Amino acid sequence: MLDKKVAELLNDQINKELYSAYLYLDFSLYYEEEGLDGFANWYKIQAQEERDHAMLILQYLQNNGEKVTLTAIAKPDKELKDKLQVLELGLDHEQYVTRLIHAIYDVAYSARDFRTMQFLDWFVKEQGEEEKNAEDMIKKMKLFGSDAKGLYMLNSEMAARTYSAPSLTL
Ligand code: FEO
Repeated sequence: MLDKKVAELLNDQINKELYSAYLYLDFSLYYEEEGLDGFANWYKIQAQEERDHAMLILQYLQNNGEKVTLTAIAKPDKELKDKLQVLELGLDHEQYVTRLIHAIYDVAYSARDFRTMQFLDWFVKEQGEEEKNAEDMIKKMKLFGSDAKGLYMLNSEMAARTYSAPSLTL
């Protein structure tokens, strides 16, 4: 059995990751409507990754004999206004998720729950990568996005993203 508070927070995090998947699916729909199919592809794959994060946490709880309780996933409620603002919302969201992961780590640390700390190490690293991806996309959009040719190239770059399963196995 895991520390009770740690298990509770991990259970909540499943919901947060599924919400992230839902949010990025909404971003994907937005870009599709805008005719930016590469950005739509990028966020559709991101949504798959978020679902993977949820499943990894769910599996970890099950492997440790914890009961998992699923709760309602909130409607994506962010107002998507323009192609740069959506990317900025993505960065804000990843920074929020990083704070959530760090908060769970903090509780695991206090409870001397070394197993969960080790499990969360992957997520800590992943958050670093996700924040960097979001920052890079914002930088590129600011640099090239106001020019039609630049935007076309960026969209093509985003279209090249393919899904790969998470590197963490349980
Ligand atoms: Fe699962 Fe983008 O954090």
